[in-house]
Amino acid sequence: MLYKAVKGFKDILPYQVGTWNRVESEAKRIFELFGYREIRIPVLEKAELFARGIGQDTDIVSKEMYTLEDRKGNRLAMRPEATASVIRAYIEHKLYKGYPVQKLFTIGPMFRYERPQKGRRRQFHQINVEIIGDPGPKSDSELIFMIMYFFSSLGLNDFILNVNSLGCLKCRGPFRAELRSYLDRYFVQLCPDCQKRMETNPLRVFDCKVETCNQIIKDAPSMLDFLCNDCTNHFDSVRLYLKQLDLDFVVNSYLMRGLDYYTRTTFEVQTKEMGAQNAVAGGGRYDNLMKEFGGPDSPAIGFAIGVERVVELLEEHVVQEEEGPDIFLAPLGKEAEDKSFVWLQELRKGGLRSEMEYRSLGLKAQMRHADRLRARKVLIVGEDELIKGKGILRDMVSKEQIEIPLDNLVDELIRLLIR
Ligand code: HAM
Repeated sequence: MLYKAVKGFKDILPYQVGTWNRVESEAKRIFELFGYREIRIPVLEKAELFARGIGQDTDIVSKEMYTLEDRKGNRLAMRPEATASVIRAYIEHKLYKGYPVQKLFTIGPMFRYERPQKGRRRQFHQINVEIIGDPGPKSDSELIFMIMYFFSSLGLNDFILNVNSLGCLKCRGPFRAELRSYLDRYFVQLCPDCQKRMETNPLRVFDCKVETCNQIIKDAPSMLDFLCNDCTNHFDSVRLYLKQLDLDFVVNSYLMRGLDYYTRTTFEVQTKEMGAQNAVAGGGRYDNLMKEFGGPDSPAIGFAIGVERVVELLEEHVVQEEEGPDIFLAPLGKEAEDKSFVWLQELRKGGLRSEMEYRSLGLKAQMRHADRLRARKVLIVGEDELIKGKGILRDMVSKEQIEIPLDNLVDELIRLLIR
């Protein structure tokens, strides 16, 4: 073999695509019910957009971004997430003109140079949703409700919903100071990365995957003890609405999320399976990003679902059979083959999933192929059938056979088989 896919980049093969389509179409169906509109954004952006939005000191920006220079020396990045691009587009196209609240979703590939493992790829796909322009807390709760409804409509219910509040800039300052002085006590035990994080942004120590740092962070001060009155009220209301919507959740005060833009509510949906890569969706509020990007002072909140992880859960838990063709044409002899070729295209135009083997095979081989494709019915037409003007229509499940006139064949088959 001369070429293999790049490490961490995977093909989605025909037998897998059915599940992918199901996830995406269910997302679109539900988001439309909730009033969200699709936006499509580019895969490449200026690298600075992500550095500024997600944060220079985050793992995503400092270690995982695919960056490149174009021929004019502009530094670009393959998007590692969608939020920064959606906000850029909202400002660039002045989507706030008219009605300032915009509910948007986008679906597509993201790129992060992480160590590939189960549930973690370098090219992965997100279903990403944002509400721009509403300060919440109803929007916060609606989004969380919508994700959980999406999962349950796919037949997936075994999740833990974690929620937290990261406060606003006003209450984050004192927390950060307290956290720094706590971590100072353990400075020598922290990994070299976290020692650097102490200088740049001690909150990022929460993202560390090194066990000793995890142990230290377990007893760190909790952000929730530092929330100002407004942030406390906001978080209380979010929790109240979630209860009214009958959602089970746990408050996890260490849920910091790996992106710098978050303020107030953050949340993550975790599966009990998949080991370390257990987050199937995550998000939160980011009330300062729009202003940071030079747009209006507008609050926002959103989340992203990791499609690979959802597909994996569905493949393991929800049995889904691929649908076969409605009709398989099995002609014998040149005249029947040529007639069938034309019928085949007309049947497809008429809305029937129709198949035929072009390689002039015997009846046995054609029946085997129809079986493999899981065809509902097979139409057998040989010389005798042409003379009689009647084909044989065989049901592949009951094995029952009936005769069917050939003069008005296409209309007759459509009448019989259309679902
Ligand atoms: P995130 O937590 O970085 O958030 O990613 C969201 C989800 O994408 C994760 O929970 C996970 O399911 C999936 N994911 C992330 N990295 C990988 C990977 N390497 N391989 C497979 N799946 C992965 C964000 O990206 C935010 N932009 C979400 C958001 C939207 N916040 C506000 N609005």
